[in-house]
Amino acid sequence: MKLSISDSVRNIPYYPKALMYGHEDGWVRLSSNENPYPPSEKVFESILDALFAINRYPGGEKELKDDLAGLYGLKGDNFLIGNGSNELIEMTFRAMKHATRTGVIVTESSFAFYDIAARIYGYETTKVPLTGLTTDLGKIAAAMDDRTRIVFLNNPLNPAGTMFSHEEFERFITSVPPEVLVVVDEAYAEFAESESFPRTIAFMEKYPVLILRTFSKAYGLAGLRVGYGIGNAEFVSFLERTKQPFSINLIAILAARAAARDESRLAAVLANNRAAKAFYYESLTALNLEYTPTEANFVLVRLGMRAEEITKKLFERKVLVRFMGAYGLPDSIRISFGTPYENTRCIEELKRLV
Ligand SMILES: Cc1ncc(COP(=O)(O)O)c(C=O)c1O
Repeated sequence: MKLSISDSVRNIPYYPKALMYGHEDGWVRLSSNENPYPPSEKVFESILDALFAINRYPGGEKELKDDLAGLYGLKGDNFLIGNGSNELIEMTFRAMKHATRTGVIVTESSFAFYDIAARIYGYETTKVPLTGLTTDLGKIAAAMDDRTRIVFLNNPLNPAGTMFSHEEFERFITSVPPEVLVVVDEAYAEFAESESFPRTIAFMEKYPVLILRTFSKAYGLAGLRVGYGIGNAEFVSFLERTKQPFSINLIAILAARAAARDESRLAAVLANNRAAKAFYYESLTALNLEYTPTEANFVLVRLGMRAEEITKKLFERKVLVRFMGAYGLPDSIRISFGTPYENTRCIEELKRLV
């Protein structure tokens, strides 16, 4: 079959899909920044309840928004629910379509889907270099011009785990014109421990800010695909119009409601993350390996020229980590924090290789 496909579509890179290797087959999976623990029994109960209603179209999105509003002290109509935050990223491209402003700004090392979605929707991406592996809001402000339509910031930053502060964000956002949307993707925010982590919600009524959060990381629901956006109610209503009806299935909505209510589970996940971070800091220091201090559930480790080879050797030993070549950091790997057993296995295998 001869099919005419334009170059703009031909050149869209594939998003790296997660592999199906699981703990039960002896694999240690530390490559996708997932939560290594399954969700609590409360979530499983809600999933079982949902099964009895799958003959109906999914309701419950409004109730999930109201639950989130209660958590944040906001209104339900400040929230937008997506099939993972990836769907919310797509909605911003659809809602922000503009005749002359077709530019998107991201950082040079950042989450791959921003650029992929930008290409799908016909935007041009400008990549702004990091400064010392941290998002440099000064450089981003300088890169903006009269074609810029959306800026994607990711805080804490995947893949480095670094963050910009409240004061830095305040300085930046107050200078952004209303024609430009600033999306702050806070997929890993629950893990951030620094007191200067930005309180982005404080800016969303006065400035063009959309905050993205997800149930995929700290809440352990990556396989169900639920993310949410927080913003000014009128703006959120425009985004909502670009959304496919019923894009989040009933099981996912009810599981997210149960997970959002389960504060003690979240506290346990964060305590485990803190312990894993301390373990990696100590173990990597003992191995004389350079790492970037992290505010997230993963750590970026510099291995030099052998980074790719070591990633492959770890794979042969059933330990999955992510080589950072595609992020423009070919001397580094990113290790997601796992269970104590998985973390120990990873360090033991690394010890044999470095
Ligand atoms: C920065 C960032 N944003 C968004 C996502 C995707 O989140 P979701 O599972 O909610 O689509 C990821 C996943 O790894 C991520 O690293």
